[in-house]
Amino acid sequence: MILVTGGAGYIGSHTNKALNKVGYDTVVLDNLEKGYESFVKWGEFVNDDIGSKSIESIFKNNDIDAVMHFAAFSSVAESVEQPQKYLKNNYKNTLNLLQMMREYGVDKFIFSSTAAVYGNPESIPITENQELKPINPYGHSKFITEKALEREAEKGDFNYVSLRYFNAAGCDFDCEVGELHDPETHLIPLVLDAASGIRDSISIFGTDYDTPDGTCIRDYIHVNDLADAHIKAYEYLKDGNSSEVFNLGNGQGYSVKEVIDTCKKVTGKDFKVNLDERREGDPGILIADSSKINEKLGWSPKYDLETIIDSAWKWHEKINGI
Ligand code: UFG
Repeated sequence: MILVTGGAGYIGSHTNKALNKVGYDTVVLDNLEKGYESFVKWGEFVNDDIGSKSIESIFKNNDIDAVMHFAAFSSVAESVEQPQKYLKNNYKNTLNLLQMMREYGVDKFIFSSTAAVYGNPESIPITENQELKPINPYGHSKFITEKALEREAEKGDFNYVSLRYFNAAGCDFDCEVGELHDPETHLIPLVLDAASGIRDSISIFGTDYDTPDGTCIRDYIHVNDLADAHIKAYEYLKDGNSSEVFNLGNGQGYSVKEVIDTCKKVTGKDFKVNLDERREGDPGILIADSSKINEKLGWSPKYDLETIIDSAWKWHEKINGI
């Protein structure tokens, strides 16, 4: 049995589906603060908080072999306004989970980390051994949790894989689960809102970056590719391998303008694009070097930007009744 914390959220629900499809049993733990019970279509569901002592019953009542830990807050902007909230949920509550694992002898942990641990990278593409210099409380909360995992592994009888996601995007091709944030802050769903007329326009945050068209470049990775990496990470630990940290990206960068143009092409819709000021805390370019996970786990991304946007558009049409 695999415990999937945050399995009612965006990446957690896609991974929970993928795990069940290949025959793993799961129990999903989510407090539904950001997640949706309707996204838990596979495995058992427990509505509780990872910081609560009561989660002990999950470990008591199930034969948990590993924990995949998605439950976390993930908005950079919110973390700047409420750093304590991020410290408590993302860091301190993870310590509660780790303590519970230790008490019940659960020794495999797969952690949702982020490219935000790098801050402004020294060079592009980013390799895992670059210095970690997070520039916002969200990135910092994930950074110190990675450090806690290192210490836990040093104690022995515990191994983890930390997966540093770049820009998770796209949705389940069957539209059984998808991306639904409130408020939405991510580029692709917001552009699709403009394409369908839910919003009257999309704003580009900054046109004076040191990039070919002046807009920020990001590495968009399909959520199913992330889900696949989690399964490979679990099997790697199950085979008795020791702790590792991996980047997860496509290795290809797209500018905000290129994403908007691809959305126009995929949807066949035109819409208004505003040129706006930079958003605080946005690095100009983030592109992953994911060769380490390719070499060690045989993982490689399957889906390109057009497929990512097409899957997000189908989900967008479904939830908005288009
Ligand atoms: N952007 C716009 N207009 C918008 C929204 C976003 O121009 O309305 C731009 C942003 O400035 C950025 C790019 O689109 O350059 C992507 O922005 P997102 O908000 O979609 O994603 P981020 O790159 O800011 O953040 C994502 C995750 C974080 C994670 C980070 C690490 O949401 O949790 O990737 O790479 F930390």
